[in-house]
Amino acid sequence: MSTGDRAAAALLSWYVDMGADEALAAAPLNRFQGGSPPPEPAGDDGGPAVSAATLDELRSAVENFHGCPLRTDANRTVFADGNPEAGLMLIGEAPGREEDRVGLPFVGAAGKLLDQMLAAIGRDRTSAYITNVVFWRPLNNRTPTDEEMAACLPFVRTHVSLVRPRAILLLGAAAARVLLGTRLGISKLRGQWHEISVGNLPPVPALPTFHPAFLLRQPARKADAWQDLRRLRRRLDTA
Ligand code: URA
Repeated sequence: MSTGDRAAAALLSWYVDMGADEALAAAPLNRFQGGSPPPEPAGDDGGPAVSAATLDELRSAVENFHGCPLRTDANRTVFADGNPEAGLMLIGEAPGREEDRVGLPFVGAAGKLLDQMLAAIGRDRTSAYITNVVFWRPLNNRTPTDEEMAACLPFVRTHVSLVRPRAILLLGAAAARVLLGTRLGISKLRGQWHEISVGNLPPVPALPTFHPAFLLRQPARKADAWQDLRRLRRRLDTA
């Protein structure tokens, strides 16, 4: 089987797992009718606290930052991957073992599923930009603490302000909670548009969804994730 065939088979199996067993919505949809729910108010609307005029400056500010205890045990700083011009920014939780080894986000098992999720909306790492809410791996892949995420948050918010995506996909509870400033669980947050405001820039629409690692453990929830991805694609198609 060629690499292309393997990718197509993996994508097909993702569709089947999501319960997508027939082609829906073949007829054109009027996206101006009905409409999505109004965006919820933004969380923290303070300006970026990190001074960086470019992504390269931000990357070196992160690499020189020693205020997050996670970096003590990590091998690599994991900053971002993909295309910052793509209009779509994905924000996950934290690097895992593979990411810590390679220095790029989402290159392990969860990353493979994430690639399939992107493919399902016609994108890949040349048409999406991927980062996390912390830049270093927590030992044993535990969830980063509120303090660890708070230490990195000014960098993440500055990251958003420099990339200025048209939409953000928040992967999992940790990313959604820290960036939306809420304690609500991911099952309550997912599938609804929120906004992230940084400084004086227009708020960026942000859609929380399940983390791919969670979907690997709970494949039955892939159908919900698929609904979220369709909603994301609609927004990107019309934005
Ligand atoms: N999980 C994440 O949230 N981020 C990664 O980079 C890898 C796995």
